[in-house]
Amino acid sequence: AHLRPVEQSQAQGVLRQATAMSSPSKAKVAVLGAGGGIGQPLAMLMKMNPLVAELSLYDVVGTPGVAADLAHIDTAAKVTCATGPEELSKALYGCNLVIIPAGVPRKPGMTRDDLFNINAGIVQGLCEGIAKYCPKAWVAIISNPVNSTVPIAAEVFKKAGMYDPRKLMGVTKLDVCRAQAFWAELADTIPSKVDVPVVGGHAGVTILPLLSQATPKVDLSKDKAKALMERIQNAGTEVVNAKAGKGSATLSMAYAAAEFGNSCLRAMAGEANITECAYVDSHVTDLPYFATKLTLGADGVKDVGNLGRLNELETEGLEGLKAELRGSIQKGIDFVASGK
Ligand code: NAI
Repeated sequence: AHLRPVEQSQAQGVLRQATAMSSPSKAKVAVLGAGGGIGQPLAMLMKMNPLVAELSLYDVVGTPGVAADLAHIDTAAKVTCATGPEELSKALYGCNLVIIPAGVPRKPGMTRDDLFNINAGIVQGLCEGIAKYCPKAWVAIISNPVNSTVPIAAEVFKKAGMYDPRKLMGVTKLDVCRAQAFWAELADTIPSKVDVPVVGGHAGVTILPLLSQATPKVDLSKDKAKALMERIQNAGTEVVNAKAGKGSATLSMAYAAAEFGNSCLRAMAGEANITECAYVDSHVTDLPYFATKLTLGADGVKDVGNLGRLNELETEGLEGLKAELRGSIQKGIDFVASGK
């Protein structure tokens, strides 16, 4: 994705533009959990991104191998490597963007919430490091359950007194990618011509694709729209089952996170009108965190888009997701408050 000539020249244009501005023209990007199923291909895609000056790979195990391997790719980004909590400061110091795919993935029969007990503590620990060593960085969280891990990160940052809601984002881009891949099939067109907003959260019914706002328009009966909505909500489980115990989506997730990371870097470098869907601190609904389409600026989230007009099915979906999402948010907040 990062070698498309048009995008690359766009990115280089941004770089030149950014040199004249005070924003970082080239960034230090950390991947925390870089040895994992998502971390490795994500690190590779970021190594190919011309906006990355330094790619900082961190994991509790296996980082040197991934770093040595990637360092032989002849792109400009310099690869550095750190392993274990003693080296977390080195990994994070001076970072502009931190992407977190650290933690355990689902196995068949598990919900994302089943991962809470392990991943909550991992995200908390890594965010404590971010608060200390790179408090100004943008933070993109992939570790599940995203509905709870983003509130956990926010609570850690609030405790440390450096919380900037504009710079904390839960990565829901894979839901958008899936929705767009499926919509392109339906509309019989290529995915790059498709736009499907996906709002809400990132688990089961909290994933709310707004098919009535998808372009190009396709007339769907309510039943067909409901079936597609459910397919998008359960698409992660499709992959979990197909991998039969060997984890969850890694390659599509790495792609989605690399695209999302690229948008962050372009916005950071001063490019205007970059939009993405992400799960952020929000006032769009009565829930404190919610994913919607948003515009990124040089300092993070600039505008959080509203929901637009929802049809009957989407309105039902929105009402139906609130209790679960509210519960997941509270669980994250309580976890940090409990001091575990
Ligand atoms: P994986 O098990 O292959 O990799 C996880 C990596 O995290 C491992 O290398 C492990 O050593 C590392 N790790 C564990 N504790 C750590 C710590 N304290 N600090 C740094 N690294 C640590 O798992 P995979 O498949 O890469 O998934 C990672 C996470 O991403 C899971 O929580 C999964 O549920 C989530 N995910 C999120 C998606 C989304 O759309 N947001 C989609 C797919 C997965």
